[in-house]
Amino acid sequence: MYKLMKTTVAVLAAALFMLIETRVVSGEVVTCSGMVPMVYRNDKISIADFGGVGDGQTLNTKAFREAIYRIQHLKRRGGTLLYIPSGVYLTGSFNLTSHMTLYLAKGAVIKATQDTNDWPLIAPLPSYGRGRERPGDRYVSFIHGDGLHDVIITGENGTIDGQGDVWWNMWRQRTLQFTRPNLIELMNSRNIIISNVIFKNSPFWNIHPVYCSNVVIRYVTILAPADSPNTDGIDPDSSSHVCIEDSYISTGDDLVAVKSGWDEYGIAYGRPSKFITIRRLTGSSPFAGIAVGSETSGGVENVLAEHVSLFNMGVGIHLKTNIGRGGVIRNITVSSVYMENVRKGIKIAGDVGDHPDENYNPNALPVLKNVVINNVWGEKVLQAGLIQGLKNAPFTGICLSNIHLNGATGTRNLPWKCSDVSGTASQVSPLPCSELTSTDQAGACFVPF
Ligand SMILES: *[C@@H]1O[C@H](CO)[C@@H](O)[C@H](O)[C@H]1NC(C)=O
Ligand SMILES: *[C@@H]1O[C@H](CO)[C@@H](O)[C@H](O)[C@H]1NC(C)=O
Ligand SMILES: *[C@@H]1O[C@H](CO)[C@@H](O)[C@H](O)[C@H]1NC(C)=O
Repeated sequence: MYKLMKTTVAVLAAALFMLIETRVVSGEVVTCSGMVPMVYRNDKISIADFGGVGDGQTLNTKAFREAIYRIQHLKRRGGTLLYIPSGVYLTGSFNLTSHMTLYLAKGAVIKATQDTNDWPLIAPLPSYGRGRERPGDRYVSFIHGDGLHDVIITGENGTIDGQGDVWWNMWRQRTLQFTRPNLIELMNSRNIIISNVIFKNSPFWNIHPVYCSNVVIRYVTILAPADSPNTDGIDPDSSSHVCIEDSYISTGDDLVAVKSGWDEYGIAYGRPSKFITIRRLTGSSPFAGIAVGSETSGGVENVLAEHVSLFNMGVGIHLKTNIGRGGVIRNITVSSVYMENVRKGIKIAGDVGDHPDENYNPNALPVLKNVVINNVWGEKVLQAGLIQGLKNAPFTGICLSNIHLNGATGTRNLPWKCSDVSGTASQVSPLPCSELTSTDQAGACFVPF
């Protein structure tokens, strides 16, 4: 009870802090609603019209595939809404099509079959060269789309449930033959809205927009156990103009991780992630809250994350890359963050993540520059900050201001630790490392591109 009260107080404090910050900084609440048109569909069909049965037992793969085939081939003006009524609809993976809305009514659950033997495979992503965890092909995501536009997944907070435990166990027992499926992956697509949906127990990453543009993800809840392996929340990957806001994510891996391909494959593909906005996000995870990387070989730039509240985290803010990655990470701003009970507040490191194979180029050094982190307040932070650049590619233009990361009550936390980095710090406590020259001007961050 006491613990619950304490958590409630902390959440309220964080909410108040964010509210004040929102008002003071912008004067009005900014949203991504104008980025992708919310299309109204005159044509509506129900999964029930295609034999869908929401009894939690019947396999509805045929119903989903036929309903979407109908949308794809009848091409109704203004697109079609596929209505999923209340009930539990077990199904195998299926593909979406353009000009459709997948609408989950209140109490609707689309549940992935656990028959992993029947799960289709698709080719690896060119920017990864192989499956992310196993060589060769990979399992197709539960809900998949390639080359689409004008797709909306929404409703009344129905649930998309990946029933991932069979996959997590295969990972734990090392019996996976191919890379686990994402819950939703959209490739080469644009004008996407994902809102008012609950995502649960993804086999692997939850939402993976890759080679996409104009993607809005808002009012979503993403849940997976803290010990579920690699259940990242949202991974914008080689994508631009992605806006994530007003969401709650609690999973077993990074809440949001901006990526752009893996070593020599990502370098050759050369598709960056840029103009990524993340705001009003709350969550918890044993890994990172706001992450960039570690797969950043196509480059990551123009990222803004603000008004973020993190509880019981491994790392609050984590920028990560590695030798062999190449790629330029620049113009990253993280602002107005509250974090509580966190192992590391801020970590920026050049030695994170593995390589796809032995053919990566050890001379392909990543560039990381012009990172602004300001207005961060933390309680029960074990270590405030760790910044480790690369000897032959030091991180530059790291600008920290107004950052206060406190240890547990009555204890002093571990000091900052830095190497191969340059930048500035103002109003940072505990005192940051000497590599970051201190300035008196609060918030004075001149960020050349
Ligand atoms: C779904 O799309 C993938 C890749 O785009 C394709 O390989 C697969 O055949 C499609 N599946 C169905 C059932 O249409
Ligand atoms: C769905 O959840 C969001 C929060 O993610 C909330 O703002 C919204 O009111 C809910 N909608 C319904 C219909 O329950
Ligand atoms: C840096 O990124 C922000 C988006 O986060 C963008 O608005 C701004 O124009 C970028 N700055 C430069 C110099 O490109």
